Amino acid sequence: MSGRESFWLVNLHPEPLDVRGEVAAGLAATPKHLAPKLFYDAAGSRLFDRITRQPEYYLTRTETDILRRFGAEMVRLAPRGAVLVELGSGTSRKTCWLLDHWTAGDLYVPVDISADALRIAARRLKRRYPHLGIRALVADYTAPVAWENYAPSPRLVAFLGSTIGNFEPEAAVRFLARLGAAVRPGGAVLVGVDLKKDVDALLRAYNDAAGVTARFNLNLLARCNRELGADFDLGAFGHAVRWNAAAGRIEMHLVSLRAQDVRVAGRCVHFAAGETIHTENSYKFTPEEFERLAAAAGLATRHIWFDADRRFGVYALVPR
Ligand code: AVJ
Repeated sequence: MSGRESFWLVNLHPEPLDVRGEVAAGLAATPKHLAPKLFYDAAGSRLFDRITRQPEYYLTRTETDILRRFGAEMVRLAPRGAVLVELGSGTSRKTCWLLDHWTAGDLYVPVDISADALRIAARRLKRRYPHLGIRALVADYTAPVAWENYAPSPRLVAFLGSTIGNFEPEAAVRFLARLGAAVRPGGAVLVGVDLKKDVDALLRAYNDAAGVTARFNLNLLARCNRELGADFDLGAFGHAVRWNAAAGRIEMHLVSLRAQDVRVAGRCVHFAAGETIHTENSYKFTPEEFERLAAAAGLATRHIWFDADRRFGVYALVPR
């Protein structure tokens, strides 16, 4: 308990990321891949923050606009005395558009892997909403260690930012089913979903002209150099973005610009010219596709709020 600041911070001690193990396994596999969770060291988190302010990266701006316009309606989905849980809350910057309508005395439970981000966010929110109860949870919300045990029911659970698009479809169904189980009875799940659109607009969003997303992607290799003593030549790899139409997803890759050998975590890794490391999938959905995905998780779509151009949707899902 941080007495003077009067919010609770409970540390569930999330399993630290095994960077060496993840990188060794991903680069030994065929095709080579690195998990997107490796993006977010301090430098990567700063770069992601800059991505959200690039003109081509419409996602954050569009979702924030939807929350600003419809936050009051969203909050009305929650039963009286409900607890607002936000998974992957980060800086909680968008959440004010929900909290502005949250009744005084109600509880907000931000869940994030970063204790620093939670502390900064909780302090700022406490100043803006002096009567709001805040119980911050340092946790990996995908881990079986249950954040559910630390947030009283009933709940409105927010999972924003289209992070659901990073899950493989089967994993997304399992995760949504878990959220459905967590909000019962009378609760609801709010999910931010990036929608299918003009492919060029999607490709531009992941390949901004200022090159920030390219730096974000290449930071994975820089991180290997910093943390694992690897000797990646950052000039010998390029940022590549592909639309995989069959899977309905944007893919990010790092392309080896020539044949080369790299020392990583005590191993020598060979790259053929043009070979890639697959670093991220970002699934996009039509409104109907996501509704079907939610239905497969036992959730009914109560409402979808869109922006005027239907680039992004915020779904209210309830257990059936
Ligand atoms: C934070 C996972 C939603 O997939 O759009 C941004 C991450 N990657 N630019 C996304 C990301 C490249 C982002 N998510």
